Amino acid sequence: MSIKVKSGIQKKGRVILPITTSLNAMVYGVAGRVDFVVGDFIQLAPSLKEDVLFLAPPWGGPMYNKVETYTMNMLQPIDGYKLFQIAQSITPNIIMFLPKNVDLAQVEELAWLSSPPLTLEIKENFVGGKLKAITAYFS
Ligand SMILES: C[S@@+](CC[C@H](N)C(=O)[O-])C[C@H]1O[C@@H](n2cnc3c(N)ncnc32)[C@H](O)[C@@H]1O
Repeated sequence: MSIKVKSGIQKKGRVILPITTSLNAMVYGVAGRVDFVVGDFIQLAPSLKEDVLFLAPPWGGPMYNKVETYTMNMLQPIDGYKLFQIAQSITPNIIMFLPKNVDLAQVEELAWLSSPPLTLEIKENFVGGKLKAITAYFS
C-alpha cells in the first residue's frame, strides 16, 4: 500500500511545511510508503482525485483551547466550510482532524449541506485519558 501526502507550502524557495509530515511518517515507520508532494493544497486540489482524503488543517495555534466553542471560520488557512468544499472535488470520503471543542453542529452541517448529503461518524481522540481532539469521518 502506498500513502500519498499532499501537504506543504513553498514560499520564496523555502520549503516550510513537509518537515512535520516527514518526521511524523518516520516516527510511525511509514516514511518509505509515503509520496510527499510540496504545494499549496488549495491550488493543488483541482488537479487531484483520490479515494480518501485526510485533512489535518492548522487550528490556529494554542488559542484554539482558549475559546469555549471552536468554529469552522477559525481553521487555517481558510474557513472550514470552504476547505471542505474544495476537498469534495477530490473525494466524498473525507476525514477531518478537529479540535475537541469544535462546534459539532457545524461539523454536522458539512455533512448535510453536501449534495448528496454525506454520512458522518465522529470519534473522540483521547491521549492519556484526556480528550484531545475529534476525528470526523464523512462518506
Ligand atoms: C496540524 S498540522 C498537520 C500535520 C500532519 N498531521 C502531519 O503529520 O504532517 C497542519 C499542517 O497543514 C499545513 N498547511 C497549512 N496550510 C496549508 C496549505 N495551504 N497547503 C498545504 N498544507 C498546508 C501546515 O504546514 C501543517 O503542516
